[in-house]
Amino acid sequence: MRKHIVAGNWKMNKNLQEGVALATELKEILAAEAPNCDVIIGTPFIHLATVSELLKDSCIAVSAENCANHDKGAYTGEVSAEMVKSTGAEYVILGHSERREYYAETPEMLKEKVDLALANGLKVIFCIGESLEQRENNEQEAVCKAELAGSVFHLSAEQWKNIVIAYEPIWAIGTGKTATAEQAEEIHAFIRSCVAEVYGQEVADETSILYGGSCKGSNAPELFGKPDIDGGLIGGASLKAADFKAIIDAWK
Ligand code: 13P
Repeated sequence: MRKHIVAGNWKMNKNLQEGVALATELKEILAAEAPNCDVIIGTPFIHLATVSELLKDSCIAVSAENCANHDKGAYTGEVSAEMVKSTGAEYVILGHSERREYYAETPEMLKEKVDLALANGLKVIFCIGESLEQRENNEQEAVCKAELAGSVFHLSAEQWKNIVIAYEPIWAIGTGKTATAEQAEEIHAFIRSCVAEVYGQEVADETSILYGGSCKGSNAPELFGKPDIDGGLIGGASLKAADFKAIIDAWK
């Protein structure tokens, strides 16, 4: 059966010392009480090497929050997928709405990033989701399908095994407005049907689809209780060990 996953996305929070302290605390908490799901933390680039080393023998995997859409060369300030991989990180989050919106990442650029990430042995947490306006116009299905078609549906079935999808409605990110479990389930089931159209039902049934957007300990059990919601991609509530643990515990 497909994996249940709780992944944190620290975004641009925590300096190196704070990040190491949080990773250490999580490692200790989860060593004392093993999680019932896969646990991933997404950290800024500068944390990756230290945190990957720290979590080497733990049940927690490490993810970058971005990577470049070029292989290597004169791209000042960029970090390549190969560099991410060399830190010991296993995953990269791509397609986050904040990157699409504030850094003008296009489906074409994201396709390049996805290809480079996979070519360098990283797994990808690929984010999709509609804006409030698109939701009000009932365009959420078309938006999600187009985002998948634009950046990941060119992959082979073999490559697809390294893709995790995160559905993150933009109107729910950092707003305290969570999609209801029913709203989330409806679109997760739709996303799975899109995957089935391209890769077949068996592959779709093995694909983990995470929910993101104001997910916390109080709403995670209801969300994760839905058949097509396989876990969460967590922003704010991943910044404190106890809050993150409460979400991980939703799988117990
Ligand atoms: P919040 O959990 O803070 O709403 O953020 C969700 C998110 O964007 C995770 O990638």
